[in-house]
Amino acid sequence: MKILIVNGPNLNLLGQREPGIYGSESFENYLEQLRKRYPEITIDYYQSNVEGELINKLQEGGFLAAPVYDGIVLNAGAYTHTSIALHDCIRSLKSPVIEVHISNVHTREEFRHHSYLSPVCKGVICGFGLDSYRLAIEALK
Ligand code: DQA
Repeated sequence: MKILIVNGPNLNLLGQREPGIYGSESFENYLEQLRKRYPEITIDYYQSNVEGELINKLQEGGFLAAPVYDGIVLNAGAYTHTSIALHDCIRSLKSPVIEVHISNVHTREEFRHHSYLSPVCKGVICGFGLDSYRLAIEALK
């Protein structure tokens, strides 16, 4: 099984950025643990702060007849709440996409309550800290 984790803007700063909300562990460190936990799964990782680059990567990994990945775990960060372009991209992918958030966006500012991505994702996991990514992998399994 091959899974792609995609992180959007500002998630390169995990561990340093607002640790009260997002925790103090870097994603690279967490990813190492995930890979050890699921040795049977190839877990590729991509992060970009640029909307179009996220779309390029998603298309590359999940598009049409022969998708590279069995599933995609996507934390689009703030683009979740703004991006019709990501919505359109996900709806044309063959690979199932799970939307994840580290924080529980529904307990935060109102502008985080709406997601353009949820209607075109297979499911949504939010609010479990970095463990949200593991739960998404479990769902894809
Ligand atoms: C986030 C929640 C978003 O609202 C925010 O813009 C992020 C991170 C999360 O993982 O909790 O950058 O996606």
